Amino acid sequence: MCGIIGYIGKNNALPKLIEGLKKLEYRGYDSAGIAYFHKNNIKIIKSVGRIQELEKKICFKEQSQLGIGHTRWATHGKVTEKNSHPHQVGKITIVHNGILENYQDLKKILQEKGYSFKSDTDTEVACAYIDYEYQKNPLHNMSEILKNCMNTFIGSYAIAIIVEEIPNQLFVMKKDSPLVIGLGTNEIYVASDISAFADKVSNYIILEDMEIGILTTNEYQIIKNGKRKMPTLKKIDTKNQSSDKKQFPHYMLKEIYEQSEKIQLWNTKYLNHIMELPDISKYKKIHIIGCGTAYHAGMIGKYLLEEYGNIEVNVFIASEYRYQKLFIDQNTLVIVVSQSGETADTLSCIKRVQQYKAHTLGIINTEDSSIARSVEKVIYTKAGQEVAVASTKAYTSQLYIFSMLAIRLGIINHNLTLAEIKNTYHQLPQKIKEVIHKNYDNLTSLLWNYNNIFYLGRNIDYVTMMEGSLKLKEISYIHSEAMPAGELKHGTISLMNEETCAIVMATKEELIPKTISNIKELKARGTKIVLLTLDNLTNSIEKECYDEVIWIPKMAPYVQPILNVIPLQIIAYNIAKKRGCDIDKPRNLAKSVTVE
Ligand code: M6R
Repeated sequence: MCGIIGYIGKNNALPKLIEGLKKLEYRGYDSAGIAYFHKNNIKIIKSVGRIQELEKKICFKEQSQLGIGHTRWATHGKVTEKNSHPHQVGKITIVHNGILENYQDLKKILQEKGYSFKSDTDTEVACAYIDYEYQKNPLHNMSEILKNCMNTFIGSYAIAIIVEEIPNQLFVMKKDSPLVIGLGTNEIYVASDISAFADKVSNYIILEDMEIGILTTNEYQIIKNGKRKMPTLKKIDTKNQSSDKKQFPHYMLKEIYEQSEKIQLWNTKYLNHIMELPDISKYKKIHIIGCGTAYHAGMIGKYLLEEYGNIEVNVFIASEYRYQKLFIDQNTLVIVVSQSGETADTLSCIKRVQQYKAHTLGIINTEDSSIARSVEKVIYTKAGQEVAVASTKAYTSQLYIFSMLAIRLGIINHNLTLAEIKNTYHQLPQKIKEVIHKNYDNLTSLLWNYNNIFYLGRNIDYVTMMEGSLKLKEISYIHSEAMPAGELKHGTISLMNEETCAIVMATKEELIPKTISNIKELKARGTKIVLLTLDNLTNSIEKECYDEVIWIPKMAPYVQPILNVIPLQIIAYNIAKKRGCDIDKPRNLAKSVTVE
């Protein structure tokens, strides 16, 4: 979602701001803008659409040592230049990520005081309110001004501010939206995440909630509750910051391919240390929460933990969980799954469950993210930076961790031997490669022009199909629906005819005959079928059952879901490519969903 960049330093701010915005592009946006000091005046340039459009309007010959920039993902008000950031009111210019919930009330108060508004945004109201406090404060003490604003603002915000009369300071404040400060040599950056400046600085500070930062070219002050505090300096880990597309046409494809080598990395990191992972069987209740793909990973986790751990697990969508009645206490473990570690709905659940004294374990990709810092224990998924909006390698990394947690219990409950387990995981990278290199051409030609595609499966295969369906929707804009195959005849089969199409997964051996019966019911109505099933069944599944088939190598059930999702990622990618979609940056979507 919205991305913030800010720069103060010895170099020209303009290319720095644009470079930073480009690094934040992956978060998702629909307009962009910058504001910078030029000869003691603040200049603002904005554009709807891609950063390239903004770049065309900028005169890079102009010199500036202080500026802020923003990519906006519209929340309040349409995608227009007038609604894009930066916003300027009076002496104040700001960029904002988050939502100011009480902006309507503040707008009324400010209108009564003579302020008028040009945009439909909550951000312009925040800007006007900062100006109002600024005008009231005779000494223009920014620490006091911003503290008063934070005491008035309700909602989430990371805000970077420049002030017309203070051309040598950059201000930031934050609550519930991420903001980091990068410390270079005679230059300081601020951004929504460290990827915006990771190659420029060696240390950074994570701004905490209700903190204010006052920054100059080579000094920083962090202030909380009116008092200066010494922040913790963190070192940039450049290993995790590579976002090079290499020879691939899209990040998504690169990230699909990476899954095989990532398994090798995870094997070294986790497989040899299974018994060092937390023993989750000691809790009376286990809840898993996440959104989108992370929720699907949690659902797979449920099946694996129940199967191998013999413990009941319930999985919840975070945006629902945050408002539902909870029956949890100190005997509950809440497992929180997130790639970005910044998802607002997921983060809010942690704050809530902590009030019930429940324990929290994070399965998180982004180190030092807000969620990683909020949970009691964290297992990092080590997928590396995921750039494409559609999650692929982060999902398989989450499944990998769940499979480890499950077989840790399975070693005791199911008499699994370590040698057998290790052998299975060591085979996985090669099997993934095999699946990636299958021929998907006929299947893509069959599917790409449908407006609706059903994704069917039973048991754990159904969950994999939920993830496959989400992948297709996100990047190809084809509507699709995932459904347990056995549920079709309770309503949805009324839609099925010669014009419909279903992708069906059947890899849970004891249920394959049942799924095949469901396929026959669809075939009888003329529906086209793409079947994804196990390669040991090539001779036993009748050809009449499918129009196209992908044979997936059969593996142990605890890793089968990792392999099964690969063809679905490729199907979604190929279809989106054939339809000419913007695969890495699908419309309306954001990589990091930092608003509710
Ligand atoms: O960063 P998170 O894992 O918390 O994000 C959760 C979802 O927003 C995310 O998985 C989303 O569904 C992806 N775009 C799916 O590909």
